[in-house]
Amino acid sequence: MKYGYFDQKNREYVIDKIDVPVSWTNYIGVNDMCGVLNHTAGGYLFYKSPEYHRITRFRPNGVPMDRPGHYVYVRDDETGDYWTLSWQPVGKSLDSAKYVCRHGLSYVKYQCEYSGIFGEQTLFIPLDDPVEIWDVALRNDSSSKRKLSVFSYAEFSYHHIMIDNQNFQMSLYCAGSSYKDGIIETDLFYEAEGYQYFTGDGGSSDNSEKYFDCLRDEFIGPYRTETNPIAVEKGFCSGSFELGGNHCATLRKTVELEPGAQTRLVFLLGEGKREDGKKMRAKYCMSNFSAVDTAFAALKNFWKEKIDKLQISTPHDGMNTMINTWTLYQAEINVMFSRFASFIEVGGRTGLGYRDTSQDAMMVSHSNPKKSRSRITELLKGLTTDGYGLHLFSPEWFEKKENAGFKSPTVVPGFNKSQYVHGIKDACADDALWLIPSIVEYIRESGDISFADEKYTYADTFDPETGGGMEESVFDHMKRILDFSDREIGPHGVCKGLRADWNDCLNLGGGESAMVSFLHYWALTHFIALGKYLGRDIKKYEDMAVKVKKICEKELWNGSWYTRGFTSSGRAIGVPDSKEGRVHMESNTWAVLSGAASPEHGKAAMDAVDQFLYTPYGLRLCDPAFSEPDDEVGFVTRVYKGLKENAAIFSHPNPWAWAAETVLGRGDRAMKFYDALCPYNQNDKIEVRKAEPYMYCQFVCGSDHSAFGRAHHPFMTGSAGWAYFAATRFMLGIRPDFDSLIVDPCIPVSWPSFNVRRVWRDAVYNITVENPSGISKGVKECKLNGKNVTCGKEGAQIPVQKAGSENAITVVLGT
Ligand code: GLC
Repeated sequence: MKYGYFDQKNREYVIDKIDVPVSWTNYIGVNDMCGVLNHTAGGYLFYKSPEYHRITRFRPNGVPMDRPGHYVYVRDDETGDYWTLSWQPVGKSLDSAKYVCRHGLSYVKYQCEYSGIFGEQTLFIPLDDPVEIWDVALRNDSSSKRKLSVFSYAEFSYHHIMIDNQNFQMSLYCAGSSYKDGIIETDLFYEAEGYQYFTGDGGSSDNSEKYFDCLRDEFIGPYRTETNPIAVEKGFCSGSFELGGNHCATLRKTVELEPGAQTRLVFLLGEGKREDGKKMRAKYCMSNFSAVDTAFAALKNFWKEKIDKLQISTPHDGMNTMINTWTLYQAEINVMFSRFASFIEVGGRTGLGYRDTSQDAMMVSHSNPKKSRSRITELLKGLTTDGYGLHLFSPEWFEKKENAGFKSPTVVPGFNKSQYVHGIKDACADDALWLIPSIVEYIRESGDISFADEKYTYADTFDPETGGGMEESVFDHMKRILDFSDREIGPHGVCKGLRADWNDCLNLGGGESAMVSFLHYWALTHFIALGKYLGRDIKKYEDMAVKVKKICEKELWNGSWYTRGFTSSGRAIGVPDSKEGRVHMESNTWAVLSGAASPEHGKAAMDAVDQFLYTPYGLRLCDPAFSEPDDEVGFVTRVYKGLKENAAIFSHPNPWAWAAETVLGRGDRAMKFYDALCPYNQNDKIEVRKAEPYMYCQFVCGSDHSAFGRAHHPFMTGSAGWAYFAATRFMLGIRPDFDSLIVDPCIPVSWPSFNVRRVWRDAVYNITVENPSGISKGVKECKLNGKNVTCGKEGAQIPVQKAGSENAITVVLGT
């Protein structure tokens, strides 16, 4: 079943059957202010931190689902009938009203046609100001004159997620609201700068009590919900405000519309005091709201510039749609907001996960080089001198202390360094290894070679009072990471699993993880390539790579595929005679992707992945699922079969398999795997998938589960970044190197050709790949602006071209 479609021209996903089975979300805001909103305007807004600076309130995992939100009510003042421009919360019958939600890049539009009135509410945050704009349009499509009241509504939060949900002892009596000059201001008395405002323009109103409510309970009324607020039912507000209580953003505006007439109202929900609200109102509400249009156009352009860095045109519509818009968008949102704000992670766990952020930073170095770089530097400062990263940390910990930050109204125990710089016991074996390829890919993309010699502190030597600590170069940080993995090995010489490897639920401690050794090898190859390019002495690491590769083949090839690891008592995991967890994605894909596996073992390993892990919805993480708790293996054995890490279709590692297949030259197999997971392909299977078809989800229930095929936990997952990376760098094969752009595709044999427009170091490369003999891999010939270019085993190598130039590249596949 279908609920919507991809609007290619506007780069929107349009939900035209609004009763989707679960919330379909979007993120608005690309800087400090961000809103997470669903298809019916449910959701919340935060400033910098959803944990400490929540602006609007949200009752997660509740009934009715995903409320409250940022709502616009419309009331017919002649009949008393009322509705909202988003389907919920009033929820008119879908027989009498038509609702559409358009999820765009960092904005949402809610459209409604009901009782002869067309209404639209666009929510977005301008690039330059911390204010959420509610741009409301109303048109009278009926044949009679209409008198309407329009009410805004959002519920203010007490900023801090804990006191918003648990401890009202102080907050309930320390947050106040007031109304003056058309502006609602809320004041969190316990915070130095705890102010929010709500204002707007358009329609008619005056300062009398019928036109505003600052108190939630006065607007909604007792024994009611957002579905039937008393103020809307009556048709006027009560002018409520108070010091203490729960506060809301309700302004009422009246509108009279002749048949065919239209009008526009703008509301502003902002960070700051009433004075700030005045300034923003002056900026955005003057001259017929032209500044709103300019800000919206700037936001559109912000995304266009990113998207224009890489555009593909292949015979695969789904891949074109996902890569050209949605997968990049998802990857970018993850770099911006990590994993801390969604309807699942509702702000209770903020900060940066070391491994997630390291991977995220690698995926958008072409479209967001500034953010990639700043994320990488934050991670460098979160590394310990031992060479492991802090598993979850806040970048502010490693910046000079400027002020005390959030002050809780109740006493909260202090926080010192020993609490956040954790020991090796809490280290994950893979965390910091991911940072090495991220750094190297960033340099390859940007040409920012001096970055390797920039100096940064380490987490365990940092002094927040002075802002100083022991400093070393980026290159030296990388060495410490590689040395850590060289040191922390078990009896087979394979890297220890420690608290976890990439798989959070595989907790091997002193046992060994194949995935980490393969990742160590991959990181070494990146480091060696950079070291060679820079002319550094890297002999120690070249020897280390030879040793790691040898150990991997000797200890981890089990005759059929690659073993997943060993428990601390020496039991092998993921071998042919394992009863449960016989075949695993991580070890087999990484054996190949890292380059450590021989071609023949690699092929057999990936054949096992296809044979045991493939489903029409993607590849499962392991097979068979675990059913017996086994604490030597880890928490994965205590997860229900077919969910999460226990044999679900975990999305994030799926692209590793696509990439691995391209290393083996099997383009059709890579595409088969790509297609299985591709959300676009499930647009008409929502009765199974349930989740939004424009986003990868963290996992899809596996074949052992009764809800096989149902996708969970959208948006916030490293799957998008990896999908983007694997599709563009491995399948389409366009990879920047230090001073050449490599073109080395691996595609389905049925593709006759494809085109890619790639901007690299400020020059444009218009690449056409032709496949006259119907093969998957192998470059026979390449021309750059009509002249032959070197082609080798690694594909075509196009030398870096002058900034500002536009270049035509033709690549012919063949043997
Ligand atoms: C979640 C975590 C990620 C981990 C993965 C597998 O997505 O955010 O860090 O690698 O689960 O356990």
